[in-house]
Amino acid sequence: MTFDDLLRNRRSIRNFQQKDVPLETIKEIIKDSCLAPSASNGQPCNFIIIKNRDMMEKISAECKKNLLNDFADSPGPMKERYEAILQDEKFNIFYNAPSVVYVVGSPDVDSLDVDCALAVGYLMFSAAQRGLGTCWIGFGTNIRDPKIKEEIGLPDNYSIVAPLIIGYPQLIPAPLERHDPRILQIIS
Ligand SMILES: Cc1cc2nc3c(=O)[nH]c(=O)nc-3n(C[C@H](O)[C@H](O)[C@H](O)COP(=O)(O)O)c2cc1C
Repeated sequence: MTFDDLLRNRRSIRNFQQKDVPLETIKEIIKDSCLAPSASNGQPCNFIIIKNRDMMEKISAECKKNLLNDFADSPGPMKERYEAILQDEKFNIFYNAPSVVYVVGSPDVDSLDVDCALAVGYLMFSAAQRGLGTCWIGFGTNIRDPKIKEEIGLPDNYSIVAPLIIGYPQLIPAPLERHDPRILQIIS
């Protein structure tokens, strides 16, 4: 795949084949993500690999519960948009993907979010280049039950930046519309 193909084929995937993604492949993709730049080369990203569908179901239920409670406490546009979907018992926030990688780290690192987001971009492209599909699942950050945190091996003082599902796509959808770049000023 040329880089141009990659740019166009990297799409958020929400329909997966049942096929498992080998652990070795996930580890290789994670290794590629470590080539991403980070502030002062601090490399603050840590990874949790979950390939267990029961655990993913458990996390999905936990995040849905917490999000719905948040909507009840403070209604807003998120509630309008997502409440009905999250109330659907059959809806799994991970779209029944075979695996999810949690990118996590210490919030003491000022650049944690930016560094991890860059690493996630690399993860997405490395996966796409191997014929795999990914989707950043922001909903998946809402794990609050200390037992579940412990079960997945999330250190107490770490925060979750990005849960990224990985699996073999059923199909790669056409790119979504993007508006033209908003170039505010050109000074030459
Ligand atoms: C920070 C972030 C959080 C996201 N959270 C979710 C999510 O919880 N569920 C979901 O289906 N997609 C999620 N997405 C995927 C976006 O909806 C998707 O990237 C966007 O619609 C553009 O589509 P594309 O990635 O196919 O180009 C998230 C993306 C980002 C960058």
